[in-house]
Amino acid sequence: MRLKGRNFVDLSDFERFELRRFLDTAHDLKRKQKRGEPHELLKGKSLAMIFMKSSTRTRVSFEVGMTQLGGHALYLQPSGTQLGRGETIGDTAQVLSRYCDAIMARVYSHDEIMELAEHATVPVINGLSDLLHPCQIMADMQTIDEHKGRLEGLKIAYVGDSNNVSNSIMQGCTIMGMDVTIGSPKGYTPPEKILKKTTELSKKYHTTLEVVNDAKEAVKNADVIYTDTFFSMGQERDKAKEEALMPFQVNQALVDAAKEDVIVMHCLPAHRDEELTSEVMDGPHSVVFDQAENRLHAQKGIMALLI
Ligand code: CP
Ligand code: NVA
Repeated sequence: MRLKGRNFVDLSDFERFELRRFLDTAHDLKRKQKRGEPHELLKGKSLAMIFMKSSTRTRVSFEVGMTQLGGHALYLQPSGTQLGRGETIGDTAQVLSRYCDAIMARVYSHDEIMELAEHATVPVINGLSDLLHPCQIMADMQTIDEHKGRLEGLKIAYVGDSNNVSNSIMQGCTIMGMDVTIGSPKGYTPPEKILKKTTELSKKYHTTLEVVNDAKEAVKNADVIYTDTFFSMGQERDKAKEEALMPFQVNQALVDAAKEDVIVMHCLPAHRDEELTSEVMDGPHSVVFDQAENRLHAQKGIMALLI
């Protein structure tokens, strides 16, 4: 299927060769940008960006990315639009589709992005929902590609709270041929629906998918260790959860339990010395700022191909 006109909401909507096309385009656009070669592929095009939640990376990388592609991005918040006065997401999607060439949205409930996609007549890009964070994982896979020279056959261990980031890691990395292990305490493991879908994907792509309740066991033989905040946006801090997750902190001892050349990843923002120690975050295995940079290049690839 053509990529032009498609939505980018859920990585499991795509085949491996399609995700590879996004990644190769991202690598190519990054090279062009570094060499100062023009790549204004979206001249005269506009992107509407709806943010129901805060953002630094997603907002700046989409806006700057659109500018570098020769287009324009609009930052929309519920408080400054009629969304905040009750205009429905469906009506908003139809109206924005009359002006803009794509809509990117960061929402609370995944149902909201689905509603947007249902009513929009232009591509809808998921800039994070409570269930998934697909753009993040495209940037992450670009980063792994750069540091390891491949994706297929590598092992990624995600340790910590199972959330939107780990759900998209499970899907995207499995499709690209990586073995995935989730290390989360009981009660904070991935949702059944995502596990079931990813188990099917891992059969299709001949990879392994494991969920374990021990951090050291999870990172054994890992090429990549990944972690994220204990409390995602919209969640209340809670002592019991913090205590359950503390043994899953990514610290030097955990890094030492993985492969010698392991890379350590975090989507950011990090809560230093909570899910990730400063020693590791600022240490030689960390690639967290490469990931942040690659949000720009990966999303330029996504926009160029969809629009
Ligand atoms: N990683 C990420 O999505 O960061 P922001 O919340 O700053 O956009
Ligand atoms: N899991 C985090 C990711 C932030 C980029 C959250 O949803 O808040």
